[in-house]
Amino acid sequence: MASNTLILGLQWGDEGKGKIVDALSEEVYAVCRFQGGHNAGHTIKVNGQQTVLHLTPSGILHPNVNCIIGNGVVLSLEALDKEINDLVDAGINFDNRFFVSSGCALILPSHISIDKVRDKKESIGTTGRGIGPSYEDKIARRAVRLGDLGNEQILREKVELLVSYHNRLLVELYEEEPHDIDHVIAELLSFKHLHDKYCTDTQGLIYDWIIKENQSLLFEGAQGTLLDIDHGTYPYVTSSSTTAGGVSTGLGLGPKYINKIIGISKAYCTRVGEGPFPTELFDDNGKMLAEIGNEFGATTGRPRRCGWLDLLALKKAVFTNSVTDICLTKLDVMDEFNSIEVCIDYQGDQPVYKTFEGWKSSTEGITKFKNLPLKAQEYINFIEDFVGCNISIVSTGPSRDQTIHR
Ligand code: IMP
Repeated sequence: MASNTLILGLQWGDEGKGKIVDALSEEVYAVCRFQGGHNAGHTIKVNGQQTVLHLTPSGILHPNVNCIIGNGVVLSLEALDKEINDLVDAGINFDNRFFVSSGCALILPSHISIDKVRDKKESIGTTGRGIGPSYEDKIARRAVRLGDLGNEQILREKVELLVSYHNRLLVELYEEEPHDIDHVIAELLSFKHLHDKYCTDTQGLIYDWIIKENQSLLFEGAQGTLLDIDHGTYPYVTSSSTTAGGVSTGLGLGPKYINKIIGISKAYCTRVGEGPFPTELFDDNGKMLAEIGNEFGATTGRPRRCGWLDLLALKKAVFTNSVTDICLTKLDVMDEFNSIEVCIDYQGDQPVYKTFEGWKSSTEGITKFKNLPLKAQEYINFIEDFVGCNISIVSTGPSRDQTIHR
């Protein structure tokens, strides 16, 4: 029986989705990205070499798996071209298995300028990739889309309109340099090979694969639930729908075709960029989580803020996404702690914690739940009961075999 699975983050991104996506990718017909852009970062090893995928679905590493970038993704052609070239150099084939929606809104150089200058003033701590301004133009119905590269006349007209608008913002509002419109058009046309080779009706492909061929697909989320434009910690969020609803809008398929929803959460919590983080730690425990967990952003290299797990936020994320299974990652990072806290309530803005005794022994690489220290089992069982969802996968290390399936 074919079955489609969604994998998404339940926190502020960086939950360790990559390892689980990699493991499940080889069992499916296609892996599809539905939102975000090259703000995402997913570190993997290709032929022994460390690579970070920003745009390409991780299924690309498995030669028989197809990959889709859906209409919900905002696309930097420059970033895509570089990523494809790097992967082709590493021996990965893209021909006849990599497809990009003609509806993807393009990220132009002027989007990046606007993102950076605004973030200096408004300070959300964005990745500076032009993501917000690009979604803004999409919603305002003035975006240039990948399909527009098929008609140079239309492309010119649309880019002229959009970049002159951007230039007005940059010059008059932010006192920055304008972008040369002819130069922007020439640069876009220099990536026309990407349009010619990969641009297609991805919704039509997905329809054929699910309805006609009864294939199983994997939908790969980027960022996390708390960064969702509607359900996250607004305004400190990214500009896309990172939650389960984003699959339907970002790929063009109804919710009944999402059969299993795996939500990924760290055994603690991290966040990059600005914004509220009630359980953030500023003491030695926070430093320990950052050091042992190697908490640095995969896209920008920025240090991640670290704190205890917030079970109220997790419970809400389970509901928002109708999560069927939780995967708890980086349990082994907590091996050395004397005590571990989890937020179970709020008094005003202050988290109320339940304290667990630390297990103080290595869980690294353990593959059976019953072999975990009893105190670690207690911690996991408590989380499961509190949020009302099975924790059916526990990750005890970065390699694929360091995983517990319950
Ligand atoms: P933007 O997506 O670049 O607009 O950034 C908006 C917010 O989302 C900032 O706080 C970023 O740090 C955060 N963000 C964007 N992408 C990621 C990600 O892949 N992991 C973690 N945080 C992210």
